[in-house]
Amino acid sequence: MSIDVHHLAGRPVIIGGGIAGLMTALHLAPEPVLLLSRTPLGADASSTWAQGGLAASLGDDDDPALHLADTLAAGDGLCDREMASRILNAAPGAIETLAGFGVRFDRTPEGTVRLGLEAAHSRRRIVHAGGDGSGREIMRALVAAVRSTPTIEVVEGLEARRLVVEDGRITGVLASCSTGPVFLATGRVVLATGGIGGLFHDSTNPLGSCGQGLALAARAGAIFADLEFIQFHPTALDGPCRPMPLISEAVRGEGAIIVDETGRRFLDGVRGAEFAPRDIVARAVWRHLADGHRVFLDVREKPGATFARQFPTIASACGKAGIDPARDLIPIRPAQHYHMGGVAVDLAGRTSVPGLWACGEVASTGLHGANRLASNSLTEAVVCARWVAESVAGSSGDGGKRATATDLPQPDPRSARPLLSRALGVTRDSEGLKEAVRALLPLVQRHDAASDPAAVGLMIAVAALLRQESRGAHSRTDFPHHAAVARRSQITLDAAIAAAREFGSSPMLESVA
Ligand code: SIN
Repeated sequence: MSIDVHHLAGRPVIIGGGIAGLMTALHLAPEPVLLLSRTPLGADASSTWAQGGLAASLGDDDDPALHLADTLAAGDGLCDREMASRILNAAPGAIETLAGFGVRFDRTPEGTVRLGLEAAHSRRRIVHAGGDGSGREIMRALVAAVRSTPTIEVVEGLEARRLVVEDGRITGVLASCSTGPVFLATGRVVLATGGIGGLFHDSTNPLGSCGQGLALAARAGAIFADLEFIQFHPTALDGPCRPMPLISEAVRGEGAIIVDETGRRFLDGVRGAEFAPRDIVARAVWRHLADGHRVFLDVREKPGATFARQFPTIASACGKAGIDPARDLIPIRPAQHYHMGGVAVDLAGRTSVPGLWACGEVASTGLHGANRLASNSLTEAVVCARWVAESVAGSSGDGGKRATATDLPQPDPRSARPLLSRALGVTRDSEGLKEAVRALLPLVQRHDAASDPAAVGLMIAVAALLRQESRGAHSRTDFPHHAAVARRSQITLDAAIAAAREFGSSPMLESVA
C-alpha cells in the first residue's frame, strides 16, 4: 500500500476501528477526519464480537438512578460517581443515536426495544441486536455509515507505532504500513484501540488486541488510572479454542444455572448466586476449579428449547466443540474479558497529554470502578464518543513538520503473555506479581518487538502490586480485605519503571499501600 499523507496533514486522527472509533468519526463529521485501522474495518475489533448489548434504563420500571446504583454496587466502591451518573443518564439517548445510524435492535412484537437481563442488574435493561450478535450488527451499521461519509478517510492496514510529542503536546503519529513507515502530522489524536486480551492465554477477545493504545499513550507520557482492574468473565467455553468462545451472561439471564460435575449448584451459598456481580461469580468458579472440580453451565431446562434460537452464536460455538446444549452440560472457566483501567480521561475524553483523547476500553473514565457492570462498556463507548468528538472539534492543532519516519517493530506479545497470564489472573499475590515485574522490566528495556506489550504488562503488574487490598476484580490472596479507604490508582510508565527498579534494590513495594 502506498499512502499520500500530505493532503491529510492537520486532520484529527482516530486510531482504532471499533465502535468507539467509528462513533467518534461519525460525530466529528462534517469535519474531515482520518480513521486508522490495523485490519479491514471491523475484522479484528473486539466490538464485533460483543454478545451482550448496551445497558440503558429504558423499561417502565427503570430509571438512570437505579442503573447508577447497580453500577456503583458492582464497581465495589471505586466508581467515579459523577462520571457514572453523566454517562448513564445519557444511555437511553445512545440507543436512539445508534438506531439513527441504522442499527436494527431486537424488538418486541409491539415494536418496543426488547430488554434483557444480565448479572447484577436489578432491572431488565440490556438492549441487544441480532440476539447474541449485538456487536456484529452494530458494527455492520456503523461501518456502512462511516463508508458513506465522504469526510471520513479510512486507512486500513496502517498501524500507529508512536505518538510524536513536542513541547509536551501531540504533533503527529508515526505509523507503519506494508510499504514502510509513515508520519502523519496532526495535533489531535483519539485513541480508540480497545483492550488487552492478546496479553492473556485465556481471553474472550481477539488476540490482536494487545494493549497497543496503552503503549502509545505510555510512551507519550500519559497518566493511567486503575490499570490493575481486569475483568474475567466466568463463563468462557472451556476447551482448546483460543480466543475462548464467550457464553453470554444473558444466558443466565434467561435462567441457565452453574453446576459442577456432581450436578451441585455450588453458587447457592453466594449472595445473588448466578446473578452476583461478575467478579464474585468468576472467583467462585475459579476456586471450584482449583479445588479439582469441573464446572458447567446447564441450559437444558432454561432457556431450554429456545436456546439455539435465542443464542445462535453460542449454539454454533458449542456445536463446533461437539457439545449439544439441549442434551449436554457446557464446560466453562473464567477468561480475561475486559480492562476497567486505562488511559485516565475526563468527561470529554481528554488525557493528561494535550492533543490526545481516548475513548472506549482503552480509556478509564471511572464509570466501571473495580468491576464493570455487564453491558455498560458499549454504552460508555457510544455515549463518550459524542463528547470526545465535541472536544476534538473545539480544539485546534495542526501538527509538527517532521518529515522522516522511522520503522518500529510490530509489537509481539508472546514474551509478556505467559507472565501476565500467571501473575495477573483471577487471584494474585505479592510473590507472583514481583516475579512478573522482575521478568518484564528487562523486556521493556530491550526496545524490540517485546517491549511495548511488556511496558503495558509492567504498568499493570506494578499497579497490582501497589494495591494491597482486594477490591472488585483485583483479588489478592495475601490482602483479602478492602483497604479502609477506596482510592483510584494512577501510574505512568516512568513511575512503573522507577518502582520496578527500586523494587530490585529496596523493599519499597512491600511498604506502599
Ligand atoms: C456477556 O454477554 O456476558 C458480556 C457482556 C459484557 O461483557 O458486557
